[in-house]
Amino acid sequence: MNYFGYKNGELYCENVSVRAITEKTGTPVYIYSAKTLKRHYNVFKNAFVRTKPLICYSVKANSNTAIVALFSSLGAGADIVSGGELFRAVRAGIDGKKIVYSGVGKTLEEIIYALTEDILMFNAESIEELDAIDEAAGLMGVKAPVSIRVNPDINPHTHPYISTGMKKNKFGIDIRYAREAYTIARSKHHLQVIGVDMHIGSQLTEVSPVIDALKRVQGLIKEIRKDGIDIRYMDIGGGLGITYKDERAASPDNYAGAIEKTLKDFDGRLILEPGRVLVGNAGILAAKVLYRKDNGMKKFMIVDAGMNDLIRPSFYDAYHEILPVDETRSKLFKQDVVGPICESGDFFAHDRNLPLLERGRAVALMSAGAYGFSMSSNYNSRRRAAEVLVDDKEYYLIRTRETNNDLIKGERIPSFIKIRSNHV
Ligand SMILES: Cc1ncc(COP(=O)(O)O)c(C=O)c1O
Repeated sequence: MNYFGYKNGELYCENVSVRAITEKTGTPVYIYSAKTLKRHYNVFKNAFVRTKPLICYSVKANSNTAIVALFSSLGAGADIVSGGELFRAVRAGIDGKKIVYSGVGKTLEEIIYALTEDILMFNAESIEELDAIDEAAGLMGVKAPVSIRVNPDINPHTHPYISTGMKKNKFGIDIRYAREAYTIARSKHHLQVIGVDMHIGSQLTEVSPVIDALKRVQGLIKEIRKDGIDIRYMDIGGGLGITYKDERAASPDNYAGAIEKTLKDFDGRLILEPGRVLVGNAGILAAKVLYRKDNGMKKFMIVDAGMNDLIRPSFYDAYHEILPVDETRSKLFKQDVVGPICESGDFFAHDRNLPLLERGRAVALMSAGAYGFSMSSNYNSRRRAAEVLVDDKEYYLIRTRETNNDLIKGERIPSFIKIRSNHV
């Protein structure tokens, strides 16, 4: 359930009209509902009645510090994958001891930064990374807490680009070699091995692949405990899917029930890294119709948001529902909804049944709260969108729209290039 819907013919986010926001901020603009974010977090948390896990919000899904701070205020930790995400998590008030650090390519500088922030654990993804963490901890004279991300070789039945737990994927250490990896990790002077980690993919609609992976990982835990390694944490990643169109994703209750049943004998602390399920349906991207055109074969609705703002349709062929901000009963026509970018891949929908909306009318791309702004770019030198957080009748600008100067921030023209115009 979310707090977006029509009231008196107008789309609302909670008790604020989307049109009122777009008139104030301009478009494109991301709009998030605080009530929905809180509700999703609490439903997810309450589903895990027995295990009371540490919920580490996956910052990559939506990295705005206001969103991260909101989850922090509800008790969440953070799952991070870069020094930049660590910076955001710390800025948002998340305690280091609630932060887990995943990712296949952590740099030495990032590892040192994370050690300085005294994070809960590194989820190491290769033997060489274990060496690097050991080296960094040695330089600092500390012991780094680590778990090993295991690749359980399970097909999660999702889009290939967001499948991460199969042998062919770059993530984790193959479960067949994991026991050996733990023995190596234990032999390092500056590592303290405390956990096991997995994450098999995103937008998972079925629970069974997670359970199959968990069973494999539990088998591994038995073996490494026999080797005398004290496993205190089991991090099972994120991945629970949401409904974009007509998918029937497992509910948090079913997901939690199956996990808790499988882990009934596990005596350590469970860690979860949800992203999409918390934020996906809590945000929309509002855009305006720039032009319409009809080439005789196809109708196009050209809007002022592009693939640089929301890349999911271009990248994963993902579906986002598109709603006119002012409800209309006019006739529907099949049309492509496209952005202004010079790529044929710059589209939000193909052959979608929508009314012919005039120039200036606003539309909402629904379910855009996850992997929306956080995957946005400046391609075609487009300024990234503004972001707004609604809380009941109030709304807050949580990121201002970029300016042209933001676009060239950090760029330098070397002195051997003579600037011909004085319009600089
Ligand atoms: C290691 C890790 N944890 C958690 C997540 C969050 O996944 P989701 O947004 O599907 O919950 C991801 C996303 O890809 C990830 O790579």
